[in-house]
Amino acid sequence: MRFLLVNGPNLNTLGRRQPQIYGSLTLKEIEARVAQRAAELGAEVRAFQSNHEGALIDFIQAEGEGAQGIIINPGALTHYGLSLRDALEGCGLPFIEVHLSNIHAREPFRRRSVMAAIARGQISGQGWQGYIQALESLVAIAKEEGRE
Ligand code: DQA
Repeated sequence: MRFLLVNGPNLNTLGRRQPQIYGSLTLKEIEARVAQRAAELGAEVRAFQSNHEGALIDFIQAEGEGAQGIIINPGALTHYGLSLRDALEGCGLPFIEVHLSNIHAREPFRRRSVMAAIARGQISGQGWQGYIQALESLVAIAKEEGRE
């Protein structure tokens, strides 16, 4: 089983970016924790981060085939990234949207997600553990739906 772990704009600065909101772990540390949990579950993770919407789309198009699901934190693209949304819909894979912070408890513009309606779910406000929760859900979905 293989899952994609996709992070959008500014998430490369985790660890030093507003740690009171996003936590103190770097993206590399979070990716390592997700990879470790994946190994425990008999799965593999391919991680990618970009500050560019097109690069995220290229990655999903290139790596979607052969994957069983996507864990994605689209960063601010969550709120307006329609081409990324189309790529997620187009690849046909189940995906879970993750936000480190609780986007519903912040500025009004963060409450709207253009991805949420086509996601299997949204995990918001659980910090880095949200990525682990998303992985565990996607493994369960893959088993349930015979995607292994
Ligand atoms: C975020 C929330 C977004 O509103 C913000 O633009 C981010 C990070 C989060 O993980 O809480 O870059 O997706």
